[in-house]
Amino acid sequence: MFEAVLFDLDGVITDTAEYHYQAWKALADRLDVEIDRTFNEKLKGVSREDSLRLILEHGGQTELYSEDEFHAFAKDKNDFYVESIQAFSADDIYPGILPLLNDLKKNNIKIALASASKNGPFLLERMGLTDYFDAIADPAAVKKGKPAPDLFLLAAEKIDAEIENCLGIEDAQAGIIAIQSAGALPIGVGSVEDLGEGISLVSDTSKLSYAYLIEEWQKTRA
Ligand code: G6P
Ligand code: MG
Repeated sequence: MFEAVLFDLDGVITDTAEYHYQAWKALADRLDVEIDRTFNEKLKGVSREDSLRLILEHGGQTELYSEDEFHAFAKDKNDFYVESIQAFSADDIYPGILPLLNDLKKNNIKIALASASKNGPFLLERMGLTDYFDAIADPAAVKKGKPAPDLFLLAAEKIDAEIENCLGIEDAQAGIIAIQSAGALPIGVGSVEDLGEGISLVSDTSKLSYAYLIEEWQKTRA
């Protein structure tokens, strides 16, 4: 059996993936770079700075701005985003997540957060979820962000779990690759088109349950 579950946050625990998109879209419009939801799939799970690099690259503007301007753009995006999540509460927790967290706790399965977002702890607090988490992996503490395995490895280390005995739940391509290369078992939230074939997938979080995780674990790891 698995001993821990490593959760992504944005797009798994709550709908912040949409708010990140709206904040990037506002900045991209200002910079005259066209982005849409298909392009946004590439930004999911990716750090603030790397996302901005991808957007500038997409608009052919990589060479256009100084380092100071780059950091100012990243700050503007974050200010927009932070403003939009101020009113988050327990009402914003995705369906199925709270019963899953409760069942994991009841069964002594450890829970850790492996989100690339520096706003993760704030959001957990707003949604009243902080106490469910045995550890939060700090994205600032790892050299490489997703799709590198580092953040998931750090999350497992912080709760003293063997990474091979962990499940990781993700809604992003970059996150699924990170979980796989870390050596944990990925569970995707989303579509085959976005996340690819050959992994356990649910279309939305209401389909996630402790029983489902056990079933998928036994299918692939037993
Ligand atoms: C998550 C989101 C990304 C976001 C990243 C950094 O991985 O999926 O869209 O860019 O976190 O978030 P932050 O709140 O630190 O800018
Ligand atoms: Mg995500």
